[in-house]
Amino acid sequence: MVKIITTIAELKNVLEDHRSEGKKIGLVPTMGALHEGHASLVRRSVAENEITVVSDFVNPTQFNDKNDLQNYPRTMEADCTLLSREGADYVFAPSVEEMYPEPDTRVFDFTPLDKVMEGPNRPGHFNGVAQIVSKLFYAVEPDRAYFGEKDFQQLAIIRMMTEQLNLNIEIIGCPIVREEDGMALSSRNMLLSKEERKTAVNISQTLFKSRIFASSNSLIDTKQFVINSINEIDGLEVEYYEIVDGNTLQPIEKWEDSEYIVGCITVHCGRVRLIDNIKYK
Ligand code: PAJ
Repeated sequence: MVKIITTIAELKNVLEDHRSEGKKIGLVPTMGALHEGHASLVRRSVAENEITVVSDFVNPTQFNDKNDLQNYPRTMEADCTLLSREGADYVFAPSVEEMYPEPDTRVFDFTPLDKVMEGPNRPGHFNGVAQIVSKLFYAVEPDRAYFGEKDFQQLAIIRMMTEQLNLNIEIIGCPIVREEDGMALSSRNMLLSKEERKTAVNISQTLFKSRIFASSNSLIDTKQFVINSINEIDGLEVEYYEIVDGNTLQPIEKWEDSEYIVGCITVHCGRVRLIDNIKYK
């Protein structure tokens, strides 16, 4: 059974004992409502570390939309069942007051990574992510921390933050886990109606098609192909689609411009905001 811990003091206490025995600690930060995507991160941590801590905390400072925060799914009991099944040792589920006894006034700058895509579209989002993830890093002091490529920009930003703060933590990126029909797993998928879920599969399907389209078309045309194909579908609206260098996250114009190219998309399906991405090379 996974053990639930709610305070930083208790967490530090138990982890200190493990560390003194020379055990490696893996951390999987999450906001709960766990699914197979999260489970894949937990599995990897359990395989690579003697101790795995999963944080389960809906972080208010990264929500730029109050309704989004309010509607965010919370399924603590089911989360614990999944974590016990996967062999996680501790679930850290603090209160908001525990993590933010005082308002966090720290301002991070991840230029140029936070100046594109989710950055301008969700003002303050990555600052909030950096606030909570740095607090989790200080509380857990993990040897390794696991993040999904589903949130491609977040992963790049966490890597930069870890360097900026001189933290000796190995950041491990894990591949996107998808449903059988290709839809990327997300806690937000459970907010979709049956009808919306059916429509939403077109996001990943279009990204897959675009990889074939890309083999005989320009980057600019491929970008337009994705935007047009998705916007044509009733119930879907593209917020942005950018084809970027996988390291700098800056948009590029030609396939020859980089050796590592990823397309990142955000689409509105009803009231739900969905993100996905695909690697071209
Ligand atoms: P959350 O959305 O719960 O995601 C937790 C981790 O699971 C992230 O690293 C995310 O990329 C990964 N993940 C989600 N869906 C996935 C999928 N289909 N395949 C693989 N990995 C997937 O991301 C956050 O929480 C928060 O911003 C957090 C980092 C916890 C800070 O609050």
